[in-house]
This record gives sequence, structure tokens and C-alpha cells, in this order.
Amino acid sequence: MDMTNKTATLSFEGKTLDLPILKPTHGPDVIDIRKLYETGDVFTYDPGFTSTAACESTITFIDGDKGELLYRGYPIEQLADKSHYLEVCYLLLYGELPNAAQIEDFEGRVTKHTMVHEQMHNFFRGFRRDSHPMATMVGVVGAMSAFYHDSLDINDAWQREVAAIRMIAKLPTIAAMAYKYSIGQPFVYPKNTLDYAGNFLHMCFAVPCEDYVVEPALAKAMDRIMTLHADHEQNASTSTVRLAGSSGANPFACIAAGIACLWGPAHGGANQACLEMLREIGTVDKIPEAIRRAKDKNDPFRLMGFGHRVYKNFDPRAKVMKESADEVLDLLGFHNNPTLQVAKELERIALDDDYFVSKKLYPNVDFYSGIILEAMGFPTSMFTPIFAVSRTVGWISQWKEMIADPTQKIGRPRQLYIGAARRDYVDVAAR
Ligand code: SDX
Repeated sequence: MDMTNKTATLSFEGKTLDLPILKPTHGPDVIDIRKLYETGDVFTYDPGFTSTAACESTITFIDGDKGELLYRGYPIEQLADKSHYLEVCYLLLYGELPNAAQIEDFEGRVTKHTMVHEQMHNFFRGFRRDSHPMATMVGVVGAMSAFYHDSLDINDAWQREVAAIRMIAKLPTIAAMAYKYSIGQPFVYPKNTLDYAGNFLHMCFAVPCEDYVVEPALAKAMDRIMTLHADHEQNASTSTVRLAGSSGANPFACIAAGIACLWGPAHGGANQACLEMLREIGTVDKIPEAIRRAKDKNDPFRLMGFGHRVYKNFDPRAKVMKESADEVLDLLGFHNNPTLQVAKELERIALDDDYFVSKKLYPNVDFYSGIILEAMGFPTSMFTPIFAVSRTVGWISQWKEMIADPTQKIGRPRQLYIGAARRDYVDVAAR
């Protein structure tokens, strides 16, 4: 944090407070209000955190006006084009791109941790087969803290490192197991000869009675989807992980909390909701009615996959995802996929409509991802679990950054209380 000698002066009720202004590498200046309550006896009010920097971080930067997303300073477009997911995991965790020896060692450590404790298989048996895989993942990931006792001590840097590797390595296995359980097929063990994305596809789609050969182009597309979802600054689920971690909760419990938050349709659940919306619209001629409903204040219907708290021009991930959708669907022979046609026409019409333009609503990362995942063979219920697998490295990187910060303290927001004034108890006979 760069402390400038600039201050913001706040004057009210005869008081004048000089609040320090902090200078970021990129982005708006930040007014430091940490002493505001102590010196001014007032709170600030920002329930959706639209104007609040909740922490300082060196990991990810987003410029919503420019449509820019940087992981440790590197533009997402370059990483999606030139890097691969485990290299991006290394970058997010340690801050620099690895050299050849470092990435070989890192990939080896992740690969060697992809199996889960055999007894964890029993957890799944307790769920109904038709449970949403996100329900299973919240439960099983939280239960990891019942198994991996040697990586629970958050004050031990080595245990934090082991927990990070275990989570990155095991989340794909757990997500694949949740999927297999939901369709009544046997679990498929990880294969160390496959790369990260290919291994995930194999665990999801292989069956014991025949060989499953991973299509390299699909593995590359899955790897790119994971890279695009890896981290995203202080979004709702990352903020959940940070808040849970600030109490000293173990890393597995914190990631389980992040998975629970991501599930919401306003957040990571939007990819499933978006594809269901596109299916409900069905054909291009039904798009005007969907647009009308999305604009109707009395109708709760929203265009899922549209809009973003930060991006007010375009989501750079959506642009890469759209290119990937064309490539994957061509590869799989879905040239005239009706859902993709509806999505492209919906985007075209919406971006011409003053309502969406004036409210700066553009396709976000969830708008095209579902189309690709469906074409790969995933049911909509697996879209958000795949987002959770991809985001685990972002969550754990942000958690590690917070825990390693010697100034960090438990997160404890205050409130604007508008309830009943103090009053005395009244006996029931007198009410
Ligand atoms: C993700 O934060 C992150 O970084 C999240 C994420 C990540 O990588 O972690 O990027 C992943 O969650 C992407 C967003 C996925 N969600 C959806 O696609 C759901 C649909 N989108 C909306 O629910 C909404 O746009 C949000 C939740 C994404 C953002 O909400 P905001 O910033 O609180 O904006 P808002 O709800 O105040 O909306 C502003 C205006 C409102 O109209 P007015 O009250 O000003 O008249 O725009 C309207 C909204 O009604 N609006 C929409 C709309 N989104 C906002 N109208 C129709 N369709 C939409 N999709």
C-alpha cells in the first residue's frame, strides 16, 4: 500500500477529519477510514460494498470500464491464449510465472494429490442420487477437514501450502465423483498420465467397460474455461472465503463456505440459470418477449449471464469464451446449435437496446460457458461445480494472502440500526 501525503477532509457537525488517501498500482485511490469510528464516532454505509475496498491484495485487478482483468499483472487474454491452468494456479499462488523446473515440480505435486481418502467415498452414499452436485460438494469439501488433520493449522506456513495443493488437486476428483454419483455410475479414479483438464474429463466421462480417450481439443477448451474462472478479485464467494478465514476457520471449511456462496444464481449459479433461460426462450423469435420481461420492473425475470457489478463495458472473459464456443461446437459438429444461435442473437439484440446499453449490461463470463459445457456432455447441474473447481485456486490464493498478512483481524462489519428504540418488557397480561 502506497501511503500518499494526500488526505480527504470530512467535515460534519463541527468536526473536521483528515482521512489518509492510499494509492493503488491500478484503480481508484482509496480513502482510509479505519480510524473514522474512533475519531468521528460515525460509520459508513455501503451494504452491497459497491464503494468499499475490503482489503488490499496483490493477486487480481479488474478495470470495469476498460474491460480489463489481470492475474498478477498479466492480461487474461494472454494467459488464456498462451498459458495453461496449472501454470495460472502457480502464478496466482506464488505471484510469478514459473520456470520449467518450477512448473514441473508444481504439476508433479498436484498430480500426486488427486486421489481422495478412500473412506470419503462413503460420504456420497448419504446423499440422494438426485442431490444437486453443489450440495454434495459443499458437504464433502467441508468434511475434508475431518480427514486431513496435518494441514489444518493455519499458523503453519507449510500446512497452508499442503492444504492449497490438496484443494487444487482434489476438487476435480470430488466434482467428478459428485457427477458420477448423480448418474448412478461408478467413481473413476484419477489417472496421473493425464493433464489436469483431461483428467477431469476422464473422471467424468470414462466408464469401466470401455476405454475413454480424452479429445485434446476438448481438454484444451476445458483448461481455458478453468483459467478464465480462476480468480476475480473480491467477488461474493471470495469475500465469503476471506470472512470465514478471518475467524481462523480451517482452509477446507473456508472453501466449503465459498462453494456455498458461489451456488447462488446471481453469482456462480448464473451459468446454469443462463442455459436454462436460453432453453426456455428456445427460438430466436421468442427473444423480444424475453427482452421485454427483462426490462419490466414488475417482472423478476432477468437475462441471466448479463450484467456485472464491476464490468460496465464488456467482460473480457466472455469474449474469449465466445470464441471458444465457436471452436468447440464446430469440433463437435454442432454447427447450428439452436442454443448458441439464440445466445448470439440475444446478445446482438440486447446490445442494441437502450435499456441494456444505458444500464451497461453486457454478457458476462456465464453467458457462453454453459453452451460449451453442454456441448461437451455436461448436464446444467455440473456447470457451477466446474466453476467451483476452477475458482478454488483463486479462493485459496486470496485466503493465503490474508492469513499471511500480519495486520489481518477478524472481519466484523457494523450496521445502520433502524429497529425498535430501547423499551421495557411488558407482562403478557398487560399486552
Ligand atoms: C459472476 O463479482 C464477480 O466478479 C462475479 C463473477 C466472478 O467471476 O466471481 O464475475 C461471476 O457472478 C458473474 C455474474 C453472474 N450473474 C448473472 O449473470 C445474473 C444476472 N445478473 C444480475 O443479477 C446482475 O447484473 C448482477 C448480480 C450480476 C450485478 O448486480 P448489481 O451490480 O447489483 O446491479 P443491479 O442489480 O443493481 O442492477 C443494476 C440495474 C438494475 O436496474 P435499476 O434498478 O437500476 O433500474 O440493472 C438491472 C437491474 O434491474 N439489471 C438487469 C440485469 N442485471 C442488472 N436487468 C435485466 N437483466 C439483468 N441481467
